[in-house]
Amino acid sequence: MQSFILCLFFGIFPICIHSRIVLDIYHDNSKANSGVSENVQTPNQTYDEISLTKYLNSEYYGLIKVGKPAKEFKVIFDTTWADSWLPSEHCALYELSCMWHTRYDSKKSSTYKEDGRKFEISNDEISLKGFLSVDDFHLPHLKVANQTFIEITHMPVMSTLLDKADGLIGLAFSSLAIDGTIPFFYNMIQQNIIKENIFTFYMNRDPTTSKAGNLILGGTDRSHIKTNLTYLPVIEKKYWTIRMDKIIVDVGNKSFSFCTNGCNAMIDTSSNAIVGPGNIIEKINDLIGAKSVWKFFAYKYMVDCRTFAKLPPITFVLGGKNFTIQSKYYVQHMTAFSATLCLSPFVRSNTDSKVWQLGGAFLMQFYTEYDLDRGRIGIAETLM
Ligand SMILES: *[C@@H]1O[C@H](CO)[C@@H](O)[C@H](O)[C@H]1NC(C)=O
Ligand SMILES: *[C@@H]1O[C@H](CO)[C@@H](O)[C@H](O)[C@H]1NC(C)=O
Ligand SMILES: *[C@@H]1O[C@H](CO)[C@@H](O)[C@H](O)[C@H]1NC(C)=O
Ligand SMILES: *[C@@H]1O[C@H](CO)[C@@H](O)[C@H](O)[C@H]1NC(C)=O
Ligand SMILES: *[C@@H]1O[C@H](CO)[C@@H](O)[C@H](O)[C@H]1NC(C)=O
Repeated sequence: MQSFILCLFFGIFPICIHSRIVLDIYHDNSKANSGVSENVQTPNQTYDEISLTKYLNSEYYGLIKVGKPAKEFKVIFDTTWADSWLPSEHCALYELSCMWHTRYDSKKSSTYKEDGRKFEISNDEISLKGFLSVDDFHLPHLKVANQTFIEITHMPVMSTLLDKADGLIGLAFSSLAIDGTIPFFYNMIQQNIIKENIFTFYMNRDPTTSKAGNLILGGTDRSHIKTNLTYLPVIEKKYWTIRMDKIIVDVGNKSFSFCTNGCNAMIDTSSNAIVGPGNIIEKINDLIGAKSVWKFFAYKYMVDCRTFAKLPPITFVLGGKNFTIQSKYYVQHMTAFSATLCLSPFVRSNTDSKVWQLGGAFLMQFYTEYDLDRGRIGIAETLM
């Protein structure tokens, strides 16, 4: 709750709290408390299931364990990054965001292995610095040994200080990985601890439960879907990018279509937003009656909370099939001190990129399977 108050004071609440989806790695407290902090690999474990837990109605936060003795971190599982990173004990005192989060201390882990190669990324969206290290990562049942990750020594305060997550696990293709390092899921495959080279996301926004879905690494869980899967080939094996046929907004009796010659879209499990080119995003926000409020922040379009459930449905046509999101689910609610804000998930890309990003506002209604071997994504409607 503290971070929430701080956010309001800074006026950056929507961006810092809702710019990410943080996942909860289910973690068995009984085991942790009995001192068995390093996971023992169960015999013939063929996948791992990670429960997601909700926070503040539309947030997802989580824990993963790293090193020996194992230390807990909250992590984002991100389909738009191949690398994994954690804040480092080596960051300077004035690195507020690093100080605020749980930090990895290699001196305190007996399974740490040095790498030391430098890492730096700096662009319009993010600025990160650090160096590579190697240690064991623990899931509820499986251990991913010798995972190379980035120890972050610098991260931008504005966009990360109040994130619930400490770090990130990258689930994008290895072609994006730094210096030919092996990404987390590829390591699971190489270490032969999973049966199928597939991971799946199921998310929900059911307000009656704190359970918010799950992530399966190494298998599928189709118990939550009500349609057959539609399979879409990944068109570029960097991000999980697919071809989108069209976007349709139905307002009353009228239909408005966008990217009618098709466009590319990547599935983004790290963000709630649906990001697209500015001109189209503005038109869609117009059509759903979203008003621009905060000029300086990503989530600047607000809708009227009294009518949020009756706004136009938005249809993404993928593989010739309609995938329609309803405003009841795509509008984000934020309640604080009895005030509620209702936000549009449609966010302008802050680069010239024409590639769309379909984040949580889309994934709340659709279960997705990421099939590395076949290079395809399966999508099906989730049971609500
Ligand atoms: C695990 O797999 C091995 C080899 O396939 C088999 O011999 C063994 O019985 C299995 N153990 C369990 C507990 O299923
Ligand atoms: C991890 O690294 C250690 C030391 O280099 C090695 O002994 C061990 O076999 C490695 N484990 C795996 C699963 O690669
Ligand atoms: C799912 O696919 C099966 C086999 O192709 C078909 O018989 C069934 O009607 C499909 N179900 C739906 C809901 O489309
Ligand atoms: C939609 O179309 C029907 C029949 O064509 C008409 O009666 C109705 O008034 C229209 N509604 C709106 C909101 O335009
Ligand atoms: C897909 O959605 C659009 C817009 O609502 C609609 O016009 C079209 O008939 C739908 N197609 C199918 C196959 O349901």
